[in-house]
Amino acid sequence: MKQIPENRTAEYRAYIESYMTRYYARFHDEPQKALFEAMEYSLLAPGKRLRPVFAFEFCRMSGGAWEKAAPFAAAVEMIHNYSLIHDDLPCMDNDDFRRGRPTNHKVYGETLAVLAGDALLTDAFAVAASADVPGKDVAFAIQILSENAGSLGMVGGQVLDTMSEERTLTEQEVLDIQSRKTGALINAACVLGVVAAGGSEDQIKAAAGFAAALGLAFQIRDDMLDVIGTQEEMGKGVGTDANKNTFVRLYGLDKCAELVDTYTKTALDCLSAFTDTEYMRELALSLINRTV
Ligand code: IPE
Ligand code: IPE
Ligand code: MG
Ligand code: MG
Ligand code: MG
Repeated sequence: MKQIPENRTAEYRAYIESYMTRYYARFHDEPQKALFEAMEYSLLAPGKRLRPVFAFEFCRMSGGAWEKAAPFAAAVEMIHNYSLIHDDLPCMDNDDFRRGRPTNHKVYGETLAVLAGDALLTDAFAVAASADVPGKDVAFAIQILSENAGSLGMVGGQVLDTMSEERTLTEQEVLDIQSRKTGALINAACVLGVVAAGGSEDQIKAAAGFAAALGLAFQIRDDMLDVIGTQEEMGKGVGTDANKNTFVRLYGLDKCAELVDTYTKTALDCLSAFTDTEYMRELALSLINRTV
């Protein structure tokens, strides 16, 4: 068996953080300094950078030089950070802590928090458009980003999530919410990694299949951690989603643990379309019992 490079995750994280830091450093002389401060407060806070890691690794597993995926990886991470800033607002989940710090609106106020989210979302498309890939692949990437972030994807999922608290949903309805609100951006990360490498149609389909299953496992574990996790480790409030339609509410913790396991294994089956998949297998398996 191939040796798993233990420092690969750290290398990917350092690379994307430096890339995003440098991108916004160029704008520091602009007059809307308060906006950039609020954006960078969230964007450069210590997140897991899982979506960039997926983008880089799917690029590498598809035969590309992983650095080529950086503009796509940054774009997805920027959209993810916008979604978190808005998710924490009083009109949404009303949370006070994120990544071990007060949430964006707690520090900068709601006006700047909304606008910082808006700007991260919009800037993401300029960053993605700068990718060094053929023009038709840039257009495809922009479409994937838009569809996964927008009304059919993450935003659609957030609407269903926040508007259905008063009734108990069916399993199918909860699956649909989770696929959209969380699976969609993971889908964008994995698929765009393949696009950055110039991978095949089959690899794009396999990356989407991986993301669909892994996204469900990831959100079910997130909902479990809202019950069994600690604010100290997670860096965000726990017990805050008690009224939400989650699998924990539908089936309880034990069944959820089984589901996380099952969906992760389904995700792993999709990796046969790629080469050198050992790192991704280990990463996906490590997420089953994550505490952060
Ligand atoms: C949190 O995502 C929101 C969900 C979709 C569950 P992450 O757990 O990836 O958050 P960070 O980026 O590491 O803070
Ligand atoms: C958030 O799901 C999904 C997003 C689109 C941001 P949660 O509301 O469960 O995420 P956390 O627990 O606040 O990170
Ligand atoms: Mg939420
Ligand atoms: Mg939330
Ligand atoms: Mg949560």
